[in-house]
Amino acid sequence: MNHSPNISPISCAELDWQQVDGVDIPVSKQFGDVYFSKANGLLETRHVFLNGNDLSERLAQLADGEQFVVGETGLGTGLNFLALWQLWQNVRPNNNSRLHFISVEKYPLSQADLARALSTWDELAPLSKRLIESYPFALAGCHRIRFDDERISLDVWFGDASECFPLMQSHRPVNAWFLDGFAPSCNPELWQEQIFQHIMRLSAQGTTFASFSVAGVLKRALQSYGVEITRPKGFGHKREMLKAVWKKTDDQIQNDSQYNNHSTQRKVAIIGAGIAGLTTAWTLAQRDIAVTLFEQDQPLAGGSGNPLAMLNPKLCSMDKVATHLMTTSWQYALRFYPQFDAFQAMQIEQIHDTKNHEKKINEVLSLQDYPKDILALTQHDAEQSTILLKQAGVLSPHQFAKQVLVHPLISLIQKKITQLEVCDDQQIRLYNQDDNKAEEFSDVIVCNAMDLNRLFPNTPKLKPIRGQVTWTNFDETDFNATDINRADLKTPLENSKKNTAYSFGGYASPMQDNQTPQLIFGASFLPTDDQTNLRIEDHQHNFQLLQQYQPELAERISDNPKDWQGRAALRAQTADYLPLIGRSERISPNIYLFAGLGSKGFLFAPLCAELIVSQMLNDTLPVPSNLAYLLRPDRFKIKPKNQS
Ligand SMILES: C[S@@+](CC[C@H](N)C(=O)[O-])C[C@H]1O[C@@H](n2cnc3c(N)ncnc32)[C@H](O)[C@@H]1O
Repeated sequence: MNHSPNISPISCAELDWQQVDGVDIPVSKQFGDVYFSKANGLLETRHVFLNGNDLSERLAQLADGEQFVVGETGLGTGLNFLALWQLWQNVRPNNNSRLHFISVEKYPLSQADLARALSTWDELAPLSKRLIESYPFALAGCHRIRFDDERISLDVWFGDASECFPLMQSHRPVNAWFLDGFAPSCNPELWQEQIFQHIMRLSAQGTTFASFSVAGVLKRALQSYGVEITRPKGFGHKREMLKAVWKKTDDQIQNDSQYNNHSTQRKVAIIGAGIAGLTTAWTLAQRDIAVTLFEQDQPLAGGSGNPLAMLNPKLCSMDKVATHLMTTSWQYALRFYPQFDAFQAMQIEQIHDTKNHEKKINEVLSLQDYPKDILALTQHDAEQSTILLKQAGVLSPHQFAKQVLVHPLISLIQKKITQLEVCDDQQIRLYNQDDNKAEEFSDVIVCNAMDLNRLFPNTPKLKPIRGQVTWTNFDETDFNATDINRADLKTPLENSKKNTAYSFGGYASPMQDNQTPQLIFGASFLPTDDQTNLRIEDHQHNFQLLQQYQPELAERISDNPKDWQGRAALRAQTADYLPLIGRSERISPNIYLFAGLGSKGFLFAPLCAELIVSQMLNDTLPVPSNLAYLLRPDRFKIKPKNQS
């Protein structure tokens, strides 16, 4: 497999609007074609794509735990997805079946154009509202959006289909395709052999295909793979449409059961209740999978237990966003955390020291290409640059943990797991320190940071990095006029200092402790130091950094160390600064590693949890395959013990 491909930066759709019978019809300037039929787009979608794939019948028959996957070429206005969601609401069985939708889009509509295009469909309004609210930033790559209360999820890949499809990875085939994407005469690039190769790679016998087009290229390509085509009556004045199936043989019908991993039959354990364990437990529980979470101490006793966590990514240049873990994780985190009251949207002022550092200057300048609603370069000279990241936030970890742990499917057990044993039937037996009574699980996710190497000596060595944060009361007099209702704040307030955090090599953020305004700042960074005692010199280091970069904030707190509180903890770091995510062939297929998050645990954890759960359930991965490959735990050579 070639692991180097990427998805090129994207541009948004340029639209003309035509009024037909009082309805706003979007027309693509790039392709010179309408997004949906002028006669009635919603009826056309139902006729061609939903009925063309027999979806009413197929969705209604889904068994408990079964997942149905629909693929599409061209998300456009999202009308097809919303019509499918509405059908799903009407026919879905009352069990734990799920629907997943995957679509690619080369020219995403802006959020405003999306809202305008969808405003036509009154009956879809509640669903449109949810899609518009969670619509991704206009950045290349895979954007997973989950609507867990509806048992429906969506992967929107922004980028050219020819670059996105090769990076999709799934053990579960697409069951039905919506071959949309404008008429082949307006858009020949989409209907190329290379793209069909991937459509078929992601399909299996039994997969169906529907399109409004019966163009020769489409028919010939499908037929070359043995897909059987029929041409029923098209929508409105159209004579024909395409309805096709990749026929199954009898033994393949029996094999279908391999994809239906009945989640209710799984018994899952997670070791470690830090941010990795908590986000994974939540991600599983939201899929109706019960989880036992083992923790030797209190939840968040390790590196994730500071009073505040800041979602402060170091973004990469636009040509790398699709496969850059920090940038993709930051976007997913901003969709994940707002479901918790523990989250507060904030903007972050990032100061970059660029003195005598040409590489850093170029890094900062490369960020200027980001959409203006994401970030702005507010000051730049040879010494220093400041970037205002408008889309960020902070989280109260302890409030987050509380909400996770009251989930009825998550049980917390305070015990130290001392040993794991793989049984002959691949069940995993867990031994704990207290009663030495073993319990068996079908799957175990190991989220125990620095303890990973103790449980599994054959895993890549994690290095400790000591970090201490400092907090103290903060004088807000004349600091900011706007009062903020934290719980309501899901997008950052602009021009509000109370709603701004700061990053400058260290970081600082306002926070509240029982209505008392405080400032938290830090953190020291001491590689290979594995002690967690509080130290005055770490406090002083944090304060000096604050004085140097944010003197206005430093003046608003006491400079007497006696007034400072703090906490020191260890971050677990891999040699390449990327976490270890997934199965290790050196251990067992049913044991998953989730460790080495370093100082970016809160940013990485939601997407990495989604990735590990998708791997466990053999679902479509939420990231490009080459990014998942970079994170695999077996990427490092392990020295045999006697050489180390
Ligand atoms: C007819 S519209 C899709 C309508 C859409 N399914 C809906 O429900 O509104 C076709 C879409 O395909 C997209 N598209 C065309 N060529 C593409 C390509 N090579 N890669 C990805 N998307 C493409 C277009 O930008 C456009 O949004």
